[in-house]
Amino acid sequence: MIAKRLSTFLPGIAAAIALTVAGGQAARADGEVNVYSYRQPFLVQPLFDTFEKETGAKVNVIFASKGLIERMAEEGESSPADVLLTVDIGRLEQAVTAGVAQPVKSDVLTANIPAEFRDDQGRWFALTTRARVVYASRERVKQDSITYAELADPKWKGRVCIRSGQHEYNLGLIASIIANEGEEQALKWLEGLKANLARKPGGNDRGQIKSVYSGECDIALANTYYMGAMQTNEKEPEQKEWAAAVRILFPDKDTRGTHVNVSGVVMAKYAPNRDNALKLMEFLASDEAQRIYAELNFEYPVKPGVAWSDRVKSWGDFKPDTISLGEVAKRIPLASEMVDQVRFNE
Ligand SMILES: [Fe+2]
Repeated sequence: MIAKRLSTFLPGIAAAIALTVAGGQAARADGEVNVYSYRQPFLVQPLFDTFEKETGAKVNVIFASKGLIERMAEEGESSPADVLLTVDIGRLEQAVTAGVAQPVKSDVLTANIPAEFRDDQGRWFALTTRARVVYASRERVKQDSITYAELADPKWKGRVCIRSGQHEYNLGLIASIIANEGEEQALKWLEGLKANLARKPGGNDRGQIKSVYSGECDIALANTYYMGAMQTNEKEPEQKEWAAAVRILFPDKDTRGTHVNVSGVVMAKYAPNRDNALKLMEFLASDEAQRIYAELNFEYPVKPGVAWSDRVKSWGDFKPDTISLGEVAKRIPLASEMVDQVRFNE
């Protein structure tokens, strides 16, 4: 993979030269910017296309579901990476800990992104939020509200589906429960939840919702945007039926708030195209890009005042848990230990 790196970026260089020759308005940022992305191409490519059109800078992207932070660390000063795009506060903090992030000062970023959604030293910035919610069977679950605590109540015995406890989405949720309620209470909760599972944890978020549709369980835990992804899935239209079988309940929405995690961006420590990297980061926090995130990805924009998509609005309003994401991230290793301790996945 690493040997392929230069050739991957060569077409970008050629395009950048072509654009430089063609010239453009003063605001153009010819050249290129290299993105390492944990986020899937279909989610972020429309953003890059818009950025390229507006600035003339070519965006070169390497997508991978694993190992990008490790790769940046290995590449060190010779890393071509300018920015890292990822989901999950744990991964953003991991980039900081691994020493592959550099602090960024930007009036645009601080104006557009509320303080709770960025590192106080500018080493990571959240771009979107997503809530980890309950997908409840329309047929078999009649209640209109729920709490995370209730998921450990024996009334749900054999009725809950969830993916691996070690998946970052669940570790974030468990870490937020440790941060809110303390270690002892969180461990009890996790044991209770395990006792209620309909089957061994496994599969992805959408797979849990499919299991509600098929009757294997009555409630599933999954992120909000998957509802949009299923409701609009023309390639696999059966997913529209999975979505139609459930409704979203936002746990604790009127009390301490529903757990939210983020997707975000980091500037690489040795970014070779720093100016364009900053332009791309500022673009991703702009009204235009935030609207694209809202409309195409069904996520919640971090920039205040940017509207949720109508589809996302239709799932209902909620109060997000306001505990600091930094406090949550600190407890992810403990959450992971707890998952093993209660043999959650066995
Ligand atoms: Fe996801």
